[in-house]
Amino acid sequence: LSDLRRTIDVDLPASPYAITIEPGRLEGMGILVRDLVPNDRAMLAIDTNVADPHGSIAGYSLIAAGFEIARHELIADEKRKTLATVEAMYAAMLAAKLDRRSPVIALGGGVVGDIAGFAAATYLRGVPIVQAPTTLLAMVDASVGGKTGVNFPLPPDADGCSELGKNLVGAFWQPRAVLIDPLTLRTLDDRDFRCGLAECVKHGVIADADLITFIEANAEDILALDMSALVELIDRSVRIKASIVEADEREAGRRALLNLGHTFAHAIEPIEALDLRHGEAVSIGLCAACRCAVQTGRMNGDEASRVERLLSNLELPTRLRQPVSIEPLVNAMGYDKKVASGRVRLVLPRGLGEAELVDDVDEETLRLGWAAVASDGDA
Ligand SMILES: NC(=O)c1ccc[n+]([C@@H]2O[C@H](COP(=O)([O-])OP(=O)(O)OC[C@H]3O[C@@H](n4cnc5c(N)ncnc54)[C@H](O)[C@@H]3O)[C@@H](O)[C@H]2O)c1
Repeated sequence: LSDLRRTIDVDLPASPYAITIEPGRLEGMGILVRDLVPNDRAMLAIDTNVADPHGSIAGYSLIAAGFEIARHELIADEKRKTLATVEAMYAAMLAAKLDRRSPVIALGGGVVGDIAGFAAATYLRGVPIVQAPTTLLAMVDASVGGKTGVNFPLPPDADGCSELGKNLVGAFWQPRAVLIDPLTLRTLDDRDFRCGLAECVKHGVIADADLITFIEANAEDILALDMSALVELIDRSVRIKASIVEADEREAGRRALLNLGHTFAHAIEPIEALDLRHGEAVSIGLCAACRCAVQTGRMNGDEASRVERLLSNLELPTRLRQPVSIEPLVNAMGYDKKVASGRVRLVLPRGLGEAELVDDVDEETLRLGWAAVASDGDA
């Protein structure tokens, strides 16, 4: 399978790095890390759900390359993506006598990548991190671009209850390398896999109409985890993320386009009755954003229908499954952190393959967007 290897260079002036995509790559992880960060000690931060077999494969490879490794397991749970978990990781890093040149290797989904990335960004003011993502979402999105961080409690509400605010504490800390082994996706559950597909479609809508065409033509192979289709999908999708990060490392402008669909998604994700995972909420959010784009003359109806059809072929939701009142959803969008100076800023597609940040979206357009994804009977 090594003939399927692809390499993408992320050309950041202060911290360039390479992303390697290759089925079976975990077995060669040790040599790659050793070449990048020659050191005796390393920490392998592992998502408990991938400890076996992926964690063992990576661990053996690191040991064979001469590393003395400390294994540290992390539970991929948003509620535990907190400073307390980071503190426990610092303690493990100290106990393992990691020094400033000791690499941390994050093996797992986006939760583990964000926690381990933040611990690496801050322990001894920063140690090298290698991201080895094992979910499709983490491969095409979270592992690339250097955003790390954890959730933090919001100020308590009138009843004294406090919820966790997402990714409120963090740092930009670019990885030394990203190592993507698509074989690891074989153990990922189908629902989580499809959530990653929503982000791939999002990348296509933002920046590459050909990626949309590719996914349409190869949906069956992709869903069947055909390695050659997956490598192509991940490669194309990662290139989009990498080029956006190169243009705007700190999210001063273009990088915000990656939030397409997310302002809608964040309004429905917390509603327990809907039981939506993030990627599923993004899928519905993409459909709502496309319909707002149609409403404001940025996209035609056929293009929006094409996106909806594709998401649905990928077995992702395109509508809410249960009745929800629209007004609270419109209001919830006002509290999203992409709000600048009181106006709702929203990313909207411009045709297929282009998107823009719009800051004058009126509430009526938002209502129409929600109405388009409402389940029958929504008010
Ligand atoms: N840093 C960024 O730029 C960025 C971007 C997007 C999302 N994120 C963050 O990423 C997180 C979501 O990441 P995610 O979707 O990967 O979710 P996740 O990390 O929660 O992983 C999903 C589930 O799959 C399990 N898992 C992971 N790989 C597996 C495998 N190969 N086989 C079997 N099980 C496996 C995990 O243990 C977890 O139960 C969120 O916290 C989000 O804030 C960060």
